[in-house]
Order: sequence, then C-alpha cells, then structure tokens
Amino acid sequence: MTVRRAAELLGAARNGLALTGAGVSAESGIPTFRGEGGLWKRFDPVKVASIDYFLADPSAYWSASKERGRVALGASPNPGHAALAELETAGRLAAIVTQNTDGLHQDSGSRRVIELHGSGRTVQCLDCGFREPRSEVQARLEVEMPPRCRSCGGTLLKPTVVLFGEAMPQAAVQEALALARAADVMLVVGTSLVVYPAAEIPLVAARSGARMIVVNAEPTPFDDLAEVVIHGRSGEVLPEIARLIVDG
Ligand code: OAD
Repeated sequence: MTVRRAAELLGAARNGLALTGAGVSAESGIPTFRGEGGLWKRFDPVKVASIDYFLADPSAYWSASKERGRVALGASPNPGHAALAELETAGRLAAIVTQNTDGLHQDSGSRRVIELHGSGRTVQCLDCGFREPRSEVQARLEVEMPPRCRSCGGTLLKPTVVLFGEAMPQAAVQEALALARAADVMLVVGTSLVVYPAAEIPLVAARSGARMIVVNAEPTPFDDLAEVVIHGRSGEVLPEIARLIVDG
C-alpha cells in the first residue's frame, strides 16, 4: 500500500526534505493558484501579481490582494501542516522548503522553514524600508487605499512576497538547493511543480540520489521520478504517514 511505503521511506530518512505549495494550505481555506477554484483562473498572475503592476498602481494591487490577505491572516494550520511539524520533531524531516507565504508551517510548530517566495505576514515600504505586520496594514485597507507608510507617508507599501518580475531571495534559494543536494528522501506536497526555481528542488534532490514521494491532489510533471505517488488530500494523507512513522 502506498501510504505504508511512503512511511517506510520517510521513516528511514536521515535527511528528509519537504517541498510544499498552495495545496498544503487548501484545507485551511486558502485558495490554490491553479486547478479547481484556483486564483489564477480568476486573475491573470502576470497582471495582478507582478512588480510592474504594483508599481504602476498600488491601489489596484491592494484591492486585488485584500481578500486573499484577509483569508490568509484568518487561516489556521490543518492536520497536513501538523503532520509535517511532527515529522521534523521526530527527526525524519530536516527542513521544509515552501512556496507558500502564509506562515502556517511556522504556526504549526515547524522550525526550519525556508520561504522561497517570501512572507505575506510582513509589509515593507519600498521608499524608506520601514516594515510592519501585514495585519496592521490589512486593518487600514478599509479606510486607506492605497495604504500609506507609517514612517515616511509614502504609498509603496508592498508585502514581503516575491512578485512576478522580482528577484528570488538568493539566500533562501541557495539554502534550499543545498538541502536538496543533501536530501535522502524528498517529500513533495501540494504543488503543481510548474514554477521555477521551486520545481528545481525535487529535480536536484532526485539527481543527487534522493528517493521521492509525491502527495498531491492531481498528477504533477514529476510523478514519474517518484517512488511513491499518492493522489489525495495532504490533510488526510500526511497524518496517516506520520502516524505510521511515529507510532510504529
Ligand atoms: P498551485 O495552485 O499551482 O498548485 C497547487 C497544487 O496543489 C495543485 O496541483 C493541486 O492539485 C494540489 N492540491 C489542491 N488541494 C490539495 C490538497 N488538499 N492536498 C494536496 N494537494 C492539493 O500552487 P503552487 O504549486 O504552490 O508564486 O504554485 C506555485 C507558485 O505559483 C506560488 O507560490 C505562486 C504562484 O504563482 C508566486 O506568486 C511567486
């Protein structure tokens, strides 16, 4: 059975690594980007999530981002996040590399989380560099559009997430690649694996000899590289795998 096989592989891992995407937070009520009900079915990403669009019209950016921010800030970790935290505590995962910006892995107790696309929990002024929590800016959106910097009064407040057209955080990318090269088991969860360089992580791990497990609602382009592929919901499948490992 595939869940049992996944537990055997991960249970023997000495340097396990997880790569997560929007699917792991879907059961927390945060919409994914692609697929059924995905955000990019309603919005053109290159438009609403690009740095050029933000710089041209911060109000339009914030109008589109307001609803997603409200949902993400109100979300709680689900059993899939909890299982990943448990696997780290049990020594089976060295780290989680995530494309998510919602902070739910950290909320769930995961300690080593590499955020490849930044964090949506903080907002930074592009004029003066002042940072404040997204929750504070979010509260102001009802009365102030675009939101203004509390330090310099400027209007270029941007969540500390990577927008299309922006450079990736190089330290996070290098750390993720080093972890991938050292991984003996690669667990891929809730990602369509179409955005690079994130999708490079499992490729690097596989090329370096890691055995791969994919837990995703739909097929991914790398299913053929994986030793175990489970098409299911991470909030159901991961707790089963963790239970088999932790309880024996
Ligand atoms: P996607 O929306 O592309 O893919 C989410 C994947 O999760 C899909 O393959 C779904 O089938 C799967 N899925 C949905 N619900 C699930 C569940 N309950 N359990 C398991 N799998 C589930 O999201 P990402 O791959 O994370 O980047 O997208 C990558 C990047 O594209 C995002 O970080 C974002 C976006 O543009 C930036 O904004 C820079």
